[in-house]
Amino acid sequence: DRRDDATVAIDDLVLVSNRQPYRHEYDDGKVTVDTPVGGLASAIDPVMQRTDGTWIAWGDGDADFDVVDGDDQVQVPPSDPAYTLERIGLTDYEVRGYYEGYANQALWPLCHTATGRVSFETDHWEQYRDVNAQFADVVSGHVDSDTTVWFQDYHFVLAPRMVRAAAPDAFQMQFFHIPWPAPDVFRLCPQSEAILDGLLGNDLLVFHTPRYCANFLQCVDQHCDGATVDWDTDSVVSEGRTTQLAAIPLGVDAPTIRDTVAADDSVAWAQFRARHDVGEETVAIGVDRLDYTKGIPRRLDALERLFETRPDLRGEFTYIQKGAPSREGIPAYQRLRETVEDRIRALNDRFGTDEWSPVVYTTRTLDRDVLYSLYRHSDMAIVSPLRDGMNLVAKEYVAAQVDSDGVLLLSPFTGAYEQLGEAAVAFDPYDTDRAAEAIERAIEMDDAERWRRMRRLRRAVHETDLAWWLDEAAATADDVRESRTH
Ligand code: F6P
Repeated sequence: DRRDDATVAIDDLVLVSNRQPYRHEYDDGKVTVDTPVGGLASAIDPVMQRTDGTWIAWGDGDADFDVVDGDDQVQVPPSDPAYTLERIGLTDYEVRGYYEGYANQALWPLCHTATGRVSFETDHWEQYRDVNAQFADVVSGHVDSDTTVWFQDYHFVLAPRMVRAAAPDAFQMQFFHIPWPAPDVFRLCPQSEAILDGLLGNDLLVFHTPRYCANFLQCVDQHCDGATVDWDTDSVVSEGRTTQLAAIPLGVDAPTIRDTVAADDSVAWAQFRARHDVGEETVAIGVDRLDYTKGIPRRLDALERLFETRPDLRGEFTYIQKGAPSREGIPAYQRLRETVEDRIRALNDRFGTDEWSPVVYTTRTLDRDVLYSLYRHSDMAIVSPLRDGMNLVAKEYVAAQVDSDGVLLLSPFTGAYEQLGEAAVAFDPYDTDRAAEAIERAIEMDDAERWRRMRRLRRAVHETDLAWWLDEAAATADDVRESRTH
C-alpha cells in the first residue's frame, strides 16, 4: 500500500478546512459518526492519520448537530484515534454570509470566471471576514515556531494574514482547490486587495496548474501596490516576507481504486443495470456535484444533438448521469438542479421508447466500490465543466479502467485536461456540434486507439496520484522552509 510507504509526514501540523473529515451526530445519548465520501476531506484524512496534529474545521450546519462545550474536540478516526479534530460551530447567519454568501456566491463564481453569477454583498463579506478571524484565533492558539499551518481552499483567503500577525514564525501554506482567474476577471472584486494581501500571509501558496499560478502573480502585479513579483522564481515579496508559488496537481488514490476494481465481481454493475433497465448497449457515464460549473446542461445539449443526427444510435447508446445535490441553500444551485432534471425528462420523452431511455439519472448516494464498478464498465466518461480547478472524477474514471478499454471525454477547461492533455478526447462544452461529434468518435473508436490513449492516461494518473501529491506538497514546504533558514 503506497499510502503507508509514502514519506510525507509534516511534523506539528495544523490543518484548516471548511469541511470536517468526520461528522458526529448525537441522538438520545447515542453517537454515530459519519465519514464524508470523496472530496477534499477524505483525500487529506490519510495524511493527518500519519501525524498527531490538529484538524480545524466547521462543525457542520446540520440541524442535528451542535458543537457544545466539551465535544468540540474529538480524537479521530473513531476506530483508531490518531489526531485531534477541533470543530468551530457557526450560527445560521454566519453560514449564510460566509459559506453560502461570500465563499460560494462571490469567490466561487469569480474564480471559475462565471462573472454573470458573481454577487458581492457587504454583509456576506463581513461574515466571511469574521469567520476567517474566528478560525485564525483558534489556529493561533495551536501554533508555535515549529508548527506548519496548512489552509485548504478559498474559504480561508484572509486567515493566513491574520495568523501571521499572531504567530510571525509559524510556517503557513495553502492549497487552492479551484482555479485562479485572469486579472481582468479578478478586478471585478471590490475586495481584491484584501484577498491578495490575506493570501500573501502564506509562505507557500499552491495551485493545481502553472496557469493558475501565473494568473495569481499577474493579479498581484496589477492590484497590489505594496507587493513585488519575482517572475524568475514565481514568488512575491510583501511586507518584508516572501510567498513562494507552486503548481502541484491534486491526484486520486489510484492504487486503492485499481485494487478495489480488480476485486470487483461485477455484481454491483449487473444490479445497477437491472434496476435502471440498461441492456448491452454502449454506455457513457457522468458523475458530478450538481454545480453550474460542471456544464451538465451543455452535455445534455450534445446528447440531444447526437440523437438528432444519429437516429441509429437510439437504443444503442445510453448515458448515465449520477448527480450529487450540492449547496442547496443557494438559489443558483436549486435552479440548476431543476434545469438538469427538466432537460433529462424532455430528452427521455423525445427519444425514449418503452424499452429504452437515453438518459438514466440518479441522485442516490453510491458506495465507492459501486461507483468504481460503474466507472470500470462504462465505455466512456463525459467530463464537461465550463471551468474546473482539476476534476477528480476524470482521474477516478481512469484509475478504474483496469482493462484500458474506456474513453475519457474531457473539457479543455479543466485542470485535468491541462495536466493529462490529448490522451483524452477533447469535449468542448461551448460547441454543441463538436461535442456531439466527440461522443460519436468515442463510440466508434477502435480498440487499439482506446487502449493506447487509456494506457497513457493511466500512467499519468498513477504517476501523479494522491500519495505523490502529498509528497510533493511536503517536499516543497521543506524546500521553502530550508531556504528561509539559510
Ligand atoms: O472543489 C472545491 C470544493 O470546495 C472542495 O474542496 C469540496 O470538496 C467541494 O468543492 C464540495 O463543495 P462543498 O464543500 O461546498 O460541498
